[in-house]
Amino acid sequence: MVNSETGIIGLIGHPVAHSKSPQMHNASLRNLGLNDIYLAFDVKPENLKDAIQGMRALYFKGCNVTIPHKVNVIPFLDEISEEAARIGAVNTIVNKDGKLIGYNTDGEGYLRSLKEETGFQLHGKRIMILGAGGASRAISYTLSHQPIEGIVLVNRDLNKANALLNELKQTDFHKAITYHELPYEMEQVDLIINTTSIGMYPNIKETLIKKEWIQPHHLVSDIVYNPLETKLLQDAKAQGAKIHSGLGMFIYQGVIAFEKWTGITPDTNIMRRVVLDSIV
Ligand code: ATR
Repeated sequence: MVNSETGIIGLIGHPVAHSKSPQMHNASLRNLGLNDIYLAFDVKPENLKDAIQGMRALYFKGCNVTIPHKVNVIPFLDEISEEAARIGAVNTIVNKDGKLIGYNTDGEGYLRSLKEETGFQLHGKRIMILGAGGASRAISYTLSHQPIEGIVLVNRDLNKANALLNELKQTDFHKAITYHELPYEMEQVDLIINTTSIGMYPNIKETLIKKEWIQPHHLVSDIVYNPLETKLLQDAKAQGAKIHSGLGMFIYQGVIAFEKWTGITPDTNIMRRVVLDSIV
């Protein structure tokens, strides 16, 4: 029941109409019997500062931040976590006694999804990451703090890949390459992660990796979740490799945000079902 004590949690982005976060979080809040509500707010870039001030004045419990505000919101917050500072973007805000604290749960969400859904052991592994944009920053930062052997960062713009690589926790193995060198590096890696939007609906036939380059020893992971099985993942499956779909990263970034707002771990099965129902 919504009453005068209902806590408000929000999503700010532009646009927000297609976000699955309201369904996912409201289902979890209801399931746990919490008197909070999650609402989406379409905030134009020129209104971002006022929106954050409004959150303070209205005592929001917190919010999620999505495109295009993840970077620009930082100056309006009171504090940001070390992880969010290193990634350079915030996707979750918590109102702690009037102080707005920014976090980034994307990298940790990816990691938890990978562990829970595939059981992949990162120790000593070589990881190929396609792309050097925002999603890649979050995932590569988080994975570089795991006991991996190293990361091969693949990007069209090599300068951008090298700049990101330099910001990671260093190992002797890390390297940045372009797509020309990718086929020669495939043999050497265990996990391949697509962090670009290639393969996303409506361009569902696109992939950055030729099918025949994929080998049965690979785990192939895609952060795209519409479609649930991208061309890359279909090819990987056909080659006998294991696959990991992007839906899990979306769910678990939400799980970690939910934990930060409420102190409670929500039921991932409920979250997954609600999101799947709204996709298909
Ligand atoms: P996001 O925040 O979703 O990661 P982004 O910051 O715009 O989005 O980053 C997009 C990434 O996808 C970039 O690494 C981009 O490569 P460049 O840095 O070389 O531009 C990559 N990307 C986009 N379109 C691509 C394509 N057609 N082929 C290969 N990489 C592509």
